[in-house]
Amino acid sequence: MLIPSRMIRVILSVALATLLLSLTPFADAKKPSEKPPGVAIAAAHGLATDAGLQILRDGGNAFDAAIAVSSTLAVVEPISSGIGGGGFFLLHDANKDRDIFLDARETAPASATPQAYLDKDGGLDRDRAENGPWSAGIPGLPAALVHLQKHYGRLPLKTTLAPAIRIAREGFPIYARLAKGYGSRRTVMERYPGTRAVFLADGDAPEEGEVLKQPDLARTLELLASKGFDGFYRGDTADKLLAGVKAEGGQWTAAELASYRVREREPLRFKYRDWDIVTAPPPSSGGVALAEMLHVLEGWDLSKLDAAHRTHVIAEAMRRAFRDRTIYLGDPDFVEAPVARLISRDYAAGLRATIHPDKATPSDLLSGQPAPLEDDETTHFSIIDADGNRVSATQTVNLLYGSGLIPPGTGVLLNDEMDDFALRPGTPNAFGVMGFAANAPQAGKRMLSSMTPTFMLSPQRVTALGARGGSRIITQVLLGILGYDAGLRAQQVSASPRFHHQWMPDAISAEAGALDAGTIAALQAMGHKVNAGESVWGDVETVEWNRATHTLSVGSDPRNPVAKAEVVLAP
Ligand code: DON
Repeated sequence: MLIPSRMIRVILSVALATLLLSLTPFADAKKPSEKPPGVAIAAAHGLATDAGLQILRDGGNAFDAAIAVSSTLAVVEPISSGIGGGGFFLLHDANKDRDIFLDARETAPASATPQAYLDKDGGLDRDRAENGPWSAGIPGLPAALVHLQKHYGRLPLKTTLAPAIRIAREGFPIYARLAKGYGSRRTVMERYPGTRAVFLADGDAPEEGEVLKQPDLARTLELLASKGFDGFYRGDTADKLLAGVKAEGGQWTAAELASYRVREREPLRFKYRDWDIVTAPPPSSGGVALAEMLHVLEGWDLSKLDAAHRTHVIAEAMRRAFRDRTIYLGDPDFVEAPVARLISRDYAAGLRATIHPDKATPSDLLSGQPAPLEDDETTHFSIIDADGNRVSATQTVNLLYGSGLIPPGTGVLLNDEMDDFALRPGTPNAFGVMGFAANAPQAGKRMLSSMTPTFMLSPQRVTALGARGGSRIITQVLLGILGYDAGLRAQQVSASPRFHHQWMPDAISAEAGALDAGTIAALQAMGHKVNAGESVWGDVETVEWNRATHTLSVGSDPRNPVAKAEVVLAP
């Protein structure tokens, strides 16, 4: 594990907090509590967690805090997400006892026809797919922040965006992952004058410990705060975005920006054992895959299996769900996916029947074509407030630093989410992701995603969780759900070792140390290929309210040294 001393510190502090809380008078309460004893936030950067906590102290609710956390992450993690990208926000409005899935996924501009991404030999033009203006979809995150404020928040955007604006203007210390990621993307980023103006402002590449200031981004956020939707999608910012995209040979129109809309969708719901799972519907593939996997796994008492057989059946469930992800799913506003069938128990029973108890199923025996292996960016945060409102949100610019393109004068690093479309049917993208007609690009369509913000509820326990890491987001959330179900606390869920199978490539990948030698040997004897020594991946940020013990707890991923999760008990 990367940072054992930090992990031990976090685990010890959680253990201490649990012990202290268990001594409170609430511990014996017979009735589950109606409201949490305080607030909790877990996010991938401490400045974002602090911004959210400040907004809660200032009288905001979880949705106001989400605006502060999301916008601050957009400033301090340009490598992962930003207002040039998109995201999904799963909300629970405690007052109305209602769950909402806010879809702020990017949309394809009309110029993004499949032909636009072919090279002269008819192959996929990877540079266009991953770098610069053609790789960028119309951003969704700014519209999500405005929508959250208008429909769910208590405080004005001027208040909730203030921390992000201040940090953009005054700067924040560059951390190792940011500097290292810049190194691997710099040749692309330094193609563009607007990007050079931000990242080479002091004359050289960002280094750990230096301060990164983003004054143009501060101004763009101020316009969003004062003018709302029109402050980004029309007027000065829009003009600069359009000019910057055009200057690099891309084609966006003013109408495409002005007509961007978030969508409120019904979350996907299903039961796993005693839990109600509330999660991401299409255009995320995550919820459907989770339902398939968990319904398949309900056929076993996982606690009774030895480690090798437990890993085997989980990997087989993963393999089957990922095959379906590739073939069936896309934007529900454009394609009709057989979601009801895929998440049904009957379908799962059929899949389960194809799993041999002691033998791996070779992936090419399942009909379909090869699929995903994405990388390790994006960001997730989870929030619960003292009224029981909750947010589980995952947001992204896709690959490291998105498209690399900042239209001059905006500070907005555009995403490269177009690569999540099947730009050329059957051709895997940089990370092995492929798809077919359901996920082909089309004007106004949203590209398929793996982001899986989730709630997991029982009469006693209420949790919010999610992760970053491309296709591995889905399996991190799966393992998180299985962990909570097995009785783990939030911090243990974040820290748990990870393994993953995604149908193609036909192998179980595992973090070094996640599987012991005996388990690996047993899996190999069953016919699994096991890549057991992979470096750690992902980032699970989770919060839990235990209504029976009247406690709040948080899980901050020890793999990420700048992550921070905190519980603040009501006075
Ligand atoms: O929406 C998705 O599934 C991806 N754009 C998320 C990307 C990610 O998590 C990390 N890297 N590509």
